[in-house]
Amino acid sequence: MMQESRELIIRKIKDGIVIDHIPAGRALTVLKLLKITGKEGLRVALVMNVESKKLGMKDIIKIEGKELSKEELSIIALVAPTATINIIRDYRVVSKFKVEIPDRIEGVLKCINSKCITNKKGEPIRTRFITVSKNPLIIKCDYCGTHYTAQDIEYMLA
Ligand code: CTP
Ligand code: ZN
Repeated sequence: MMQESRELIIRKIKDGIVIDHIPAGRALTVLKLLKITGKEGLRVALVMNVESKKLGMKDIIKIEGKELSKEELSIIALVAPTATINIIRDYRVVSKFKVEIPDRIEGVLKCINSKCITNKKGEPIRTRFITVSKNPLIIKCDYCGTHYTAQDIEYMLA
C-alpha cells in the first residue's frame, strides 16, 4: 500500500538516475555531495522520510536527463552507505547497484585542518583523501594525515 502512495508522490522517470534507499533525512547532503544545486536546469525530484521495507524510513532522489558514472556516484556511499543506484533508460531499470566507498576521494571534500596545505590561499590544490577503513568509515587526508570519520563528512562539503 505504501508503495502505491509513494508512486503518487513522484512519478516514474524516462531517462536518468534514481538514488534509492538513502537514509532518511540525508537527501540534501547527497545532492550537495554531487554538487547538484538546481541551477543546472536538470529536473530533480526529491522525497524525504517515506516508508521503506528495508530501512524503516528513507529518502529518494530522481535526476532526469543525466547519467553519472559508477565512479562519480561512489562518493554517495560516504553519506548514504545503504543507497541503491538505478539507471533508467526509456522507463526501464537497465542497471541497479549499491554504492561502494571508493579507495580514494579526490576534489570533493575539503580538509578541516586549517593548517593543511590544501587550505592555503592562492595555492589551489585538489584535495585527496585515502580510505583507511570502510566500516566504520575512516578516511585520511593525503596531505596532512588528519583522520576523519562518517560524522565529519557533512562539515567537509565545500
Ligand atoms: N523508478 C523510476 N522510474 C522508472 C523506473 C523506476 O523512478 N522508470 C524508480 C522506482 O520508483 C524505484 C526505483 O526506481 O524507486 C527502483 O525501481 P524498481 O527496481 O522497479 O523498484 P524495486 O524493485 O522496489 O527496487 P528495490 O528492489 O531496489 O527496492
Ligand atoms: Zn589535510
